[in-house]
Amino acid sequence: MTKGKKWVLEKHFQGMPKRSDMKIVEFDIPPIKDGSVLLEAVYLSVDPYMRPYTARFPAGITMIGQQIAKVTESKNADFPVGTNVLTMAGWVSHSVSDGKELIKIPPYPKGVPLSLALGTLGMPGMTANYGFVDICAPKAGEVAVVSGAAGAVGNVVGQIAKIKGCKVIGFAGSDEKVAWLKELGFDEAFNYKTIKDLDATLKSVAPNGIDCYFDNVGGEFSSTVLSNMARLGRISCCGAISTYNDTKPLMLPAVHGTLVFKEITMKGFIISTYKDRFPEWIKEHVQWMTEGKLKYKQHVTKGFDNMFDAFMGLFSGANTGKAIVEV
Ligand SMILES: NC(=O)c1ccc[n+]([C@@H]2O[C@H](COP(=O)([O-])OP(=O)(O)OC[C@H]3O[C@@H](n4cnc5c(N)ncnc54)[C@H](OP(=O)(O)O)[C@@H]3O)[C@@H](O)[C@H]2O)c1
Repeated sequence: MTKGKKWVLEKHFQGMPKRSDMKIVEFDIPPIKDGSVLLEAVYLSVDPYMRPYTARFPAGITMIGQQIAKVTESKNADFPVGTNVLTMAGWVSHSVSDGKELIKIPPYPKGVPLSLALGTLGMPGMTANYGFVDICAPKAGEVAVVSGAAGAVGNVVGQIAKIKGCKVIGFAGSDEKVAWLKELGFDEAFNYKTIKDLDATLKSVAPNGIDCYFDNVGGEFSSTVLSNMARLGRISCCGAISTYNDTKPLMLPAVHGTLVFKEITMKGFIISTYKDRFPEWIKEHVQWMTEGKLKYKQHVTKGFDNMFDAFMGLFSGANTGKAIVEV
């Protein structure tokens, strides 16, 4: 009998995740019953949310996550052998499903890789679309700031902001990432690790204030952006990766006065709440890609056994664009 492999969360993460918090376990792949399919992982996603979300589950779980899998055996007529699907099976090489939670990946136009179902045409891309278009409600000519701008979500936000006619300012953690953001059409891009004074930088590129802030990082960086918002500005609170490995809550200046007197809207969201709208946004993104307005990069780590390293790359900033693991 062929063996499958899975990553088990042995211990809850404390601070930065450690390799010893997880282990790879082999298991017997069970035979499938009527109505079920056997899935083999093709690409697995590593995402920042996995760090805070694991705290909701007991130690000993199979590490959570989404993957693109291929049906390799089927006793379910809706999912014949060869079908590509999205599944939340977690960090596993093989899984059995009754089909209920599976999402079939539609055929993409020629040249668009299947793996984008985990990136620009998947959860991160949908996050960018909802979080920027619905929450920031951008108008042409407005100033938009994006943190984590060279990541899976951030790069899509910046490109949508350009499509919507904004002046787009991005922040990312290396000069190479900044160069890519400029290639994508960002009007201004900065390496937040090397700029001397964030406040002065923001005032120089957005002298009349920031209308839209798409926040991927939270923490002190975002407090400084918040203090530079324009009146009636909108903040989309997407993520707070700068705080995910903190062991003590961060104490920052109170923001309430700024929110009140500048009449700012600040909204957090979890994209799965809006999953019914994914088909509409996927169509829009495919259209923009076909028109050359929406580009992508993927950071591919090869090998199921290297999932932990790929995951940690999210916290060291190893990835430009979407981080995925190819089995
Ligand atoms: N609300 C939702 O439903 C939802 C959905 C998806 C993602 N998110 C959130 O959106 C954010 C981006 O996710 P993603 O999937 O696009 O990840 P990503 O940006 O592709 O990868 C993470 C990036 O975060 C940056 N980073 C790591 N530590 C940092 C720190 N201490 N300060 C500032 N930046 C840091 C790194 O880039 P640099 O080199 O630039 O530092 C790294 O490449 C995350 O906060 C995530 O939790 C939320």
